[in-house]
Amino acid sequence: MRNVEVLQAGWLFYQGANPPADLTQWEKVRIPHDWAISRAFDCRNDLQFTKITQDGETIDAPHYGRTGGLPHVGHGTYRRNFRVNPAYACYFLEFDGVMSHSQIYVNGQLAGGRPYGYASFSVDVTSYIKKNADNLLEVTVDNPPLASRWYPGAGIYRNVRMVETAQLHVKFDGVWVKPLAVSAETAEFAIELELSDPDGDAEIKTAVLDPQGNTVATGRRFTLKNPQLWSIETPVLYQAKIEIVQNGKTVDQVVQSFGVRFVHFNADTGMTLNGKSFRMNGVCLHHDLGPLGAAFSVAAARRQLQLLKSINCNAIRTSHNPPAREFLDLCDEMGFVVLDEAFDAWEIGKIPNDYSSLFARWHEIDLADFIKRDRNHPSVIMWSIGNEINEQRVPEGWRVAAKLRDIAHRVDPTRPVTAGLDISDEAIANHLAQQLDIPGWNYKPHHYEEYHQKLPHLPQYGSETASTVSSRGQYHFPVVPGNHDHPDIHCSSYDVEFPPWASTPDKEFTFQDRCQHIMGEFVWTGFDYLGEPSPYKHHWPAHASYFGIFDLCGLPKDRVYLYQSRWSTQKVLHLLPHWNWPQYCGQTVPVHCYTNFTTVELLVNGKSQGIRRKTDCGRLTWDEVVYEPGLIVARALDDDGNVITEVSRKTAGAPVKIRLTVDRQLIAGDGDDLAFVTVDALDADGNIHPTAGDRIHITVSDGGELAATGNGDPTSLNGFTSPYVSLFNGRALAIIRGKKGAGDTIKITAEAAHLTCDTINIGLQS
Ligand code: GAL
Repeated sequence: MRNVEVLQAGWLFYQGANPPADLTQWEKVRIPHDWAISRAFDCRNDLQFTKITQDGETIDAPHYGRTGGLPHVGHGTYRRNFRVNPAYACYFLEFDGVMSHSQIYVNGQLAGGRPYGYASFSVDVTSYIKKNADNLLEVTVDNPPLASRWYPGAGIYRNVRMVETAQLHVKFDGVWVKPLAVSAETAEFAIELELSDPDGDAEIKTAVLDPQGNTVATGRRFTLKNPQLWSIETPVLYQAKIEIVQNGKTVDQVVQSFGVRFVHFNADTGMTLNGKSFRMNGVCLHHDLGPLGAAFSVAAARRQLQLLKSINCNAIRTSHNPPAREFLDLCDEMGFVVLDEAFDAWEIGKIPNDYSSLFARWHEIDLADFIKRDRNHPSVIMWSIGNEINEQRVPEGWRVAAKLRDIAHRVDPTRPVTAGLDISDEAIANHLAQQLDIPGWNYKPHHYEEYHQKLPHLPQYGSETASTVSSRGQYHFPVVPGNHDHPDIHCSSYDVEFPPWASTPDKEFTFQDRCQHIMGEFVWTGFDYLGEPSPYKHHWPAHASYFGIFDLCGLPKDRVYLYQSRWSTQKVLHLLPHWNWPQYCGQTVPVHCYTNFTTVELLVNGKSQGIRRKTDCGRLTWDEVVYEPGLIVARALDDDGNVITEVSRKTAGAPVKIRLTVDRQLIAGDGDDLAFVTVDALDADGNIHPTAGDRIHITVSDGGELAATGNGDPTSLNGFTSPYVSLFNGRALAIIRGKKGAGDTIKITAEAAHLTCDTINIGLQS
C-alpha cells in the first residue's frame, strides 16, 4: 500500500540568486508559501515599460503595479531534509504548483522540474534517494520579469507530497472514472488506470461507494441504477476504491471521488444540467487570495466560494490558468460548475516571457497533464484552451486552436472545448472560433445575436462580462458612465465606470435576456486580485484590480447586490451611496437601488423622491436627489402600493468604537485553518461609519497568529502581514490562523487611538 505524506513543515527558504551555506540566513517557512506576499510594495517590482495592445495602447509607457508591485521576480531556493521508508520500491515527489521554472534536486542531483508555474507534476526520485539516511531536497525557482499580466505569486505556492509505492503502482493522476453513458435512470462508467507496468501480472479490485458510503458496484466497468445525481443543489460524490493485488497481496490502493451528472449544450436553447435548463451565473477568478497572495489555502478558497454561493453564483471560470487541486474539490463539494482554463497565451505572446516562451516545448504536456489531473471532477464542464489568444488575429491561428482542441478531445472525449475570444470578428473570419466546440465571447453582448447567426451550430456564452470597475464605498460625482480617471486613484462605486472594451452589468443583463441561446455569463471578476490596476495602469500606488464585485479582502462592494438581485431568488433591496456627504449639502447626490422588486419608492427624511418601476433588468435610479443629512429609505411596493419591505441608510455620527465580526466561531487548530475577522468602525448608535479611516492595531493571543491584514484599497501600500491596518471606508479585515496544539481559544483584539476597542474569541478545535 502506498504512503503519502504532505510536506508542509520543516522547510527553509532563501530569496536571491546565491543561497548561502550558512542556514541561519535562511527563513523557516511552511508550504504552501508565497515569498513575495509578505514583502514590501515597490513600483520598481516588475515595472513593465510597454504598450498593452489588447487595451488599445499605441505607445510604450510605464505600467506600475501590473503584477502587484511585490517582489515576485528573481530567484528563490527551498530546502528540506526527508527520510523515506526503505521498505518501498519507488519514491515520488508531487508538486501541485511551483511559480515558476522550478528545478528539483535530490541529494544534489537534478531530478526534474517544470517551467509553467501553474502545472502540477510528479518527479520520480527513486534513483536519487538514500534509503537509510537523510535526503536533501532542494527546489530552485526562477521568476523572469515581464512574464505575467497579473500577480503570479512566487515559490512553492501549492502542496508538495512525498509518495512511496511498490514497484507496481498507479501512476500520478493515473485514474479516470470515465463516464460512458449517463442519464437520470442509469449511469455507466469505466475505470481507466495507468499502471507503472501495464503488462504486470496484477489483479485489480474495485469497489464503488455511493455518497452514503455503501458499496453499490464492483468491477472496472459498472452501471449505477437510479444514480444520485451531482448538481448545484445536491453536490453529492461517489468514490471508486481501487486495489492493485499481486500474488495475493494488495500492493497499491487509490481512492478517487467522482460525480454522476449529465450536461448538454444546445446552440439554440442553451445548456441543461441533468436534463434541467441551466444558466451560468458565473464569475472569473484569478488564483490569488488577496492578502494571502498565491499561497493556496482551503479555508480562504472555501470562504470565497461561500460568499459567491450566498448570491447564487453557480459557475467559476479559472482565469487564466489551472487552479489548485483543492479548489476543484471545493467546487465539487459545494456545487459550482467550472470552466477549467489552461493558458493565457499560445505561440504569439502578450508579453515577452509569458507562456509563449514555453509553448513549443510544453503545450502538449501541460495541456494533457492538466486535463488528466482534473477530468474526474464533476464540477468541470468544459476545458478552456485559452484566453484572448493573439492567434485570433492571424490567418493560420486556427491550426493551433485545432491542435489544442484535439489534444483535449483525446485526453477527455466527454467534455467540450472552449476559449475566451475578444477579437471575435477576426476569430470568426479566420476560422479560429469554428475550431471550438463552444466559443466564449469576452465583452461582446451587442454581438450575441449576430454571432448566433454566424455560427448557428455552436453553443455560446459570455466568457468575460462587464469588467465594471469600482472601489468599495468610494463614490464620485457627477455620476457619468464611462472610462474615468479620478484624482484619488479610485473608481466610483456607483458601478457605471468601465474601460473602453467593457460595460456596466446592466448592459450585459439586457443582452443576456434578449439572447436566450447565450448560456450565461462570467463576470470579470468575482474578487479583486493583485495586479492589473486598470484604469490606473500608469498611476502608482495602484497595484490591485478594481474589477471585483467583492474587494481584495472579500468585503462586498455595492455591485455584489446588483448580481444577487439578478441571480438569486432571494429578495434584494440595496441602496447606494452611503448618506454622509457634509460637503454636498444642498447639492445633487444621485441614489441607486439594486433590487429584484418591481416597484420602489425613495424617501429622504420622510419626503418622497418618487416611485420607480422596473422596465428592464438593470437598477433603479433617482438622479436628482438633493442631499440633506438624515435618513434615506427605499420601500418596495406591491401592485396596490402597500409596503412589502424597506431598507434605509442613515447619516452616521462620528466613529466611536470598533466592532469585530468573525466568519466562523470555531476553527481547526491545525496550523492551516483560518478565521476571517471583519473590522468596522461604528458611531454611537451602532451605524457603520462609511468613510472612517482609523489606523487599527490587531493583537492575537497565543492560540493563533495573524496570517494577514488588508482593507480592500487597491492603492494601499500597507504590508499584508502588518498588525496595523487602516480602515478603508470604514472597514478592514484580519485573517487569523489557528496554531497547532495551542489550547482551545484565540482572543483577537483591535485597538485604535480614538475608538473604543473590541475583542472576540474564536474556538480552536484540536
Ligand atoms: C480581458 C482579459 C482579462 C482582463 C480583463 C480586464 O480582456 O481577458 O485577463 O485583462 O480584460 O477587463
